[in-house]
Amino acid sequence: MKALTHLAVLLVFTFSFADQLFEKGYEVFKKSCSTCHRENMSPQEIAKIRETVKKTGKPPIKAPPMSEVSARVKKFYPTEEKFIAFVKDYITNPSREKGVCLPMAYKLFGVMPPIGRTLSEEEKEAVSYWLYHRFSDSWEEFIKKHPH
Ligand code: HEC
Repeated sequence: MKALTHLAVLLVFTFSFADQLFEKGYEVFKKSCSTCHRENMSPQEIAKIRETVKKTGKPPIKAPPMSEVSARVKKFYPTEEKFIAFVKDYITNPSREKGVCLPMAYKLFGVMPPIGRTLSEEEKEAVSYWLYHRFSDSWEEFIKKHPH
């Protein structure tokens, strides 16, 4: 019984800690990422953007949506640990060589600026954690819903 109580306390603690990290990560996203990255986009919105690129050669947005970024990075860094390590490093020291986006993304948008340098270690951890858990699609599932 005692062990069970301990387990219950531990579980509650673990879940609330994870919730807090997720919430904090969302705040960091809104503050520091959402000027360029939309959280999500419908297939219709993406189709419209593709039309604009075809007509003008330029996208009306500054970066791929986070739903796409999350799915894409998971293809190369599938575990939570590797994903978070990659994102924390990429946002601090981004480069074309390190990046795993589609070649088209760098052509359209250029390489991301090192926004992570303005964030604390905790903020970087939280936003990377949020990005991993906010979306559940694999790259294959994402691409099926949003053909490129
Ligand atoms: C000034 C615009 C801008 C801001 C602000 C911005 N990004 Fe980006 N981000 C981009 C662009 C453009 C790309 C696509 C090119 C690239 O990957 O470098 C990108 C790509 C990425 C990628 C994919 C990396 C890869 O493999 O190529 C991740 C992860 C990412 N952003 C995370 C973030 C996070 C987290 C934040 C907020 C802390 C953020 N970005 C803020 C412009 C931005």
